[in-house]
Amino acid sequence: MANKLRIGIIGTGGIAHAHAGAYKRFEDVEVVAGADIVPGKARKFLDEFGWAKADAYETHEELCARKDIDAVSVCTYNSTHAVCTVAALNSGKHVLLEKPMAVTIEQGLDILRAEKKSGKIVTIGFQPRYGQNFRRVKEIISSGALGDVYYVQTGGGRRRGIPGGTFIDKDKAGVGALADIGCYALDFALNSIGYPRPLTVSAVAHDHFGKNPKYYPNPDAFSVDDFSAAFIRLEGGITLDFRMTWAMHMDTTGDFIFLGKEGGLKVKQPNLELWGGAWDGTVGDITLYHDVLGYPTSTPIPIVRDEKGDLFGSKVRAFVDAVKTGGPAPIPTSQIIYNQAIIDGIIRSATAGREVDVTFKL
Ligand SMILES: NC(=O)c1ccc[n+]([C@@H]2O[C@H](COP(=O)([O-])OP(=O)(O)OC[C@H]3O[C@@H](n4cnc5c(N)ncnc54)[C@H](O)[C@@H]3O)[C@@H](O)[C@H]2O)c1
Repeated sequence: MANKLRIGIIGTGGIAHAHAGAYKRFEDVEVVAGADIVPGKARKFLDEFGWAKADAYETHEELCARKDIDAVSVCTYNSTHAVCTVAALNSGKHVLLEKPMAVTIEQGLDILRAEKKSGKIVTIGFQPRYGQNFRRVKEIISSGALGDVYYVQTGGGRRRGIPGGTFIDKDKAGVGALADIGCYALDFALNSIGYPRPLTVSAVAHDHFGKNPKYYPNPDAFSVDDFSAAFIRLEGGITLDFRMTWAMHMDTTGDFIFLGKEGGLKVKQPNLELWGGAWDGTVGDITLYHDVLGYPTSTPIPIVRDEKGDLFGSKVRAFVDAVKTGGPAPIPTSQIIYNQAIIDGIIRSATAGREVDVTFKL
């Protein structure tokens, strides 16, 4: 096919394989380069996908310097999301950036400024957005069935599920469970109610499991949070009650609940004890609580039990389509900067031991 979209992949570790797998299935794109700071890793990765003609680099700067690349996937660990994304934008490339957007709010704002200056698109890789049940929750709330929503509680968490690799290293991941699976819970909660602006955060964070050899085999390497909880004030008088964990002596930190003036919605997690932060888009039962003729009534909402959709393929395809049609970004930074402000606020508040302001100026 003529005029294929020319793609580069920055960071060729675990998740880059999912991006590459999707790009490989699309006939209108071509992966022409990869970069990873680990010597030889990008070459091996490109060869694995049969892209022998694609060029391998050991810095993101070299890949970004290429004038013939239209768009990149940034699949590095969290601490280098901003530097790679800004470099790609400054060299005129659209970006599909893995979640979380960044580690700090300053890094998130750097991305927004570079995006605005470049006129290119940045979309953030929250694939659960493409799940049918997730969409259904947003549709129910948007329909007005709950009236004005004034309180949201995130649920889920894992009984045992601390990952390894770069996820537990503060220099690389920056943040632990909060940025790994917590950002999905925040996106689900905030997206379902239209992404209101966060105002303040009061939070705690712990590392009781990661630092205990009884529960984690490599406690000396563990330098991030494994649990955090926060009370977040959102614009419009809405409260977000957040909790997320990689490990606990409990099956769940609760259900997702949305309380509105005319109705409530409960979204259960699909499997107690092992929940991926809804990264795979699956949910358990969804129930609408409302009054019928004055009688408090509970109505089960039909859900798709076995989500067969290719959520990863959908997110990469949505990015490609947006680039080809001139936008807008399917999951825009104008929303996700609020997710980032909350993550940043949780870290700051937990460190300071008090509520913090999370409003910002661009
Ligand atoms: N959407 C999802 O379902 C999903 C799943 C897993 C991970 N992720 C996200 O993807 C990101 C990467 O996770 P992973 O599991 O692939 O980690 P990983 O450690 O396996 O891979 C990251 C790679 O980036 C490389 N890298 C870091 N800085 C670089 C730079 N400046 N230039 C070039 N390469 C660089 C590292 O050497 C490493 O190979 C994380 O932000 C994570 O949150 C998303």
